[in-house]
Amino acid sequence: MDGYPLLCFYLAISSKAVYTTAMNSNGYSTWLEIDLDQIKTNVKELIRISGAEVMAIVKANGYGHGASEIAVASVEAGATWCGVARLEEAIALRRAGIHSHILVLGYTSPDRTAEAVNNNICLTIYDQQIGESYAEQAEKFGGGLRLHIKVDTGMGRLGIPPETALEFITKLTQMPQLNIEGIFTHFARADEPLAPTTAQQLILFNTLIEQLKKNGIAPRYIHSANSAALLNYPQSRYDLVRPGIALYGYQPSPETSLPSSIQPALSWKTRLTSVRTFPAGHGISYGHIYHTQKAEKIGSIAIGYADGFRRAPGNIALVHGKRVPVVGRVCMDQCMLQLDEIPDAEIGDEVVLLGKQGDEIISAEEIGNRWGTFNYEVICGLSARLPRIYSNNP
Ligand SMILES: Cc1ncc(COP(=O)(O)O)c(C=O)c1O
Repeated sequence: MDGYPLLCFYLAISSKAVYTTAMNSNGYSTWLEIDLDQIKTNVKELIRISGAEVMAIVKANGYGHGASEIAVASVEAGATWCGVARLEEAIALRRAGIHSHILVLGYTSPDRTAEAVNNNICLTIYDQQIGESYAEQAEKFGGGLRLHIKVDTGMGRLGIPPETALEFITKLTQMPQLNIEGIFTHFARADEPLAPTTAQQLILFNTLIEQLKKNGIAPRYIHSANSAALLNYPQSRYDLVRPGIALYGYQPSPETSLPSSIQPALSWKTRLTSVRTFPAGHGISYGHIYHTQKAEKIGSIAIGYADGFRRAPGNIALVHGKRVPVVGRVCMDQCMLQLDEIPDAEIGDEVVLLGKQGDEIISAEEIGNRWGTFNYEVICGLSARLPRIYSNNP
């Protein structure tokens, strides 16, 4: 046999294999692939850059990546704390065997004080009345409730205002059932390096810390930096930083760049579940907002808005390393692709919605722009029903 056709045959087979291997590696119709080694690299880089302890922010199911798996990887990489929004998330981490410190950053009802104490979970305190209820409840369970005080230096969300903070904190420290081990604040605009408010927030926070010191109050942990502050404001790092988005490898904002060693760890994949040629004038999907112009090759994929893929115009997917448009309305569990540019597309071929295929990449930032939102919302919106496959299963 002449060598050239044979070579072409092998090339066709091997290039096809690139797009079908994932299909052979699992039986899912859609799934997330998460590289825990990359998460560990990101955590180590953040420790190196900040020179501080790291609290891995794993709320919202680890920004869609899977909270317990990200927590385990982060702790293995050197994070000493995990941060979550709600007590349920903290308890789930304990049940998954996470032994690091855990801080609940949001509100916790005093009714749940016993759960916090029994699971050795730190709560956030920012209100006098809630503090008294915590103390009352903690008394019943032998005390020992660990707390971090949140100060609102300008975020306009949770926190004690700096004007009343000294009096509030002094009272808290007189309640022996409470263990005040940290104080923190949160920035509203640290992702905008030119905004003056972060420096102003830092002045208010530092002034309070000095006042507390003069009054003999020096909590063990002082912290303020989310990813953007960690990168943009070295003076915000203190002895503990709280990165979320950077830990997952994404930029906090277009103006806040990451070192090249910090990279996304997540890809979202699916596969062609149907490939058909429709005649001209055929309606596609609910409402028939798309009609074929001529005979068109249309593929179905097994993802929809219930997976976190929005019904928005201009959606794109990667098939055989090429960008193809989503056509017609996105359904709950499925949507359709225009495949005229991919003549050899077949049922079972891998499709990438977020991540890399061949030389093409669809980033969370690109999807966020398309959906009129930002990268955070894209990844946090990845539905719980999506199977998550970890490259380094902890
Ligand atoms: C109090 C607090 N700290 C830290 C973070 C992490 O922020 P980022 O993901 O921007 O790093 C968040 C996230 O919303 C937060 O609410």
